[in-house]
Amino acid sequence: MNKLYSQRGEALEGTTRVPGDKSISHRALIIGASAVGETIINGLLEADDVLRTAEALRVLGVKVEKNGDEWSVHGVGVGGFSTPHDILNFGNSGTGARLLMGLLATQDIRVIVTGDSSLRSRPMGRVIEPLSNMGAFFESQGNGRMPIVLHGAQEPIPISYELPIPSAQVKSAILLAALNTPGKTTVIESAPTRDHTENLLKLFGAEVEVERCSSGKLRIELNGYPELSPKPITIPGDPSSAAYPGIAALITPGSNVTIENVCINPLRSGFLETLREMGAQIEVTNQLNVAGELIGDLTYRYAALRGVTVPRERAPLMIDEYPIIAIAAAFATGQTRLCGLAELRVKESNRFLAIVEGLAACGVSVDTDRDDIVIEGCGGPPQGGAEISVNLDHRVAMSYLVMGIATKKAVTINDGTPIETSFPNFRILMNGLGAKIGFAGD
Ligand code: S3P
Repeated sequence: MNKLYSQRGEALEGTTRVPGDKSISHRALIIGASAVGETIINGLLEADDVLRTAEALRVLGVKVEKNGDEWSVHGVGVGGFSTPHDILNFGNSGTGARLLMGLLATQDIRVIVTGDSSLRSRPMGRVIEPLSNMGAFFESQGNGRMPIVLHGAQEPIPISYELPIPSAQVKSAILLAALNTPGKTTVIESAPTRDHTENLLKLFGAEVEVERCSSGKLRIELNGYPELSPKPITIPGDPSSAAYPGIAALITPGSNVTIENVCINPLRSGFLETLREMGAQIEVTNQLNVAGELIGDLTYRYAALRGVTVPRERAPLMIDEYPIIAIAAAFATGQTRLCGLAELRVKESNRFLAIVEGLAACGVSVDTDRDDIVIEGCGGPPQGGAEISVNLDHRVAMSYLVMGIATKKAVTINDGTPIETSFPNFRILMNGLGAKIGFAGD
């Protein structure tokens, strides 16, 4: 165990860059592997989750190399994968596991997929159902959990599938399965989710049509057997990672922090809208569009925040930011209600509980109402002083370390290791801005 603590210090100041976006990094590797020829990737997130996807692709016979700062993927073409000699272990990564299960579901292949104890406890039925409709066959312990033996379809069947829950992972699994499927496969979303898979597939030449139906639902249609042509990919900074130094600045008096080159895709930016409603002034400068993704520089300054109600419809647009938004809410004046958080129970850990129990341990009054969390803001620094169990969850670990930067007493987390899955230089970057995060026992 790698215990870390954070304690109150000076204002945070400076300009920085966070590592590459995790969602786009997984997709760049996977779609690169499905193209014909070499894809060069710059800015890939070199963190455990993404490195597991790179390794899984190598096990599947794809040459994936790192040359200096660049990564290169020698694609085998749509349908070019063969049964590997080893199992695929995705560690902590739900995205890597679900997206690759999609890709492999329509290859004539047999693979065993597994992960760490967190991933093995997460529901896979959400991808097993549509992928089975496409002709794949799955053996699990009977509970839809990993380890799973996947038998890809020999004769893939195109489907039209309405997502029962908003999930970019499920949508992407189906679209990747659709690559090696004849005809048109359709995914219908009642609430839009991040569209990086669609953006990259289009960039590589796939026919992807996105249309809003009269019902307001989104219809995403992919034509099977495209010839994907490699394009160079530059991955922008991860907005979910950028939220930690950003919110640290918002809650630490006198702070002023700029994070450059961040992905500001509107389908990832619900937390910016929420923070603005809470009274934050977040400046976005140098906006530009790179390969279908909007990027910009974000400047956060300390602000006296106020409580807000975050509607359930916004959840898919900020799904990974609830733990850190809950920290901002604890410092705000007044009540914050975070609505419709059922999905938080099946993330890397039960984040619904992690928010409720962790805030309470830090002296914040917090309540639940079915799938809502209600936080009574302290109107300034909460007490802090607790040790939080992070249960293999990187976002819980980073959120409570950010909290301890501005609480009255230091906050400790029992294990900083999970931070490696998405933001390996978190502690060094935060301390470079003036935070005090250290190893407990130093
Ligand atoms: C992701 C989708 C989201 C998100 C996860 C990354 C993706 O999961 O929580 O961190 O890259 O597609 P769900 O699809 O389960 O909402």
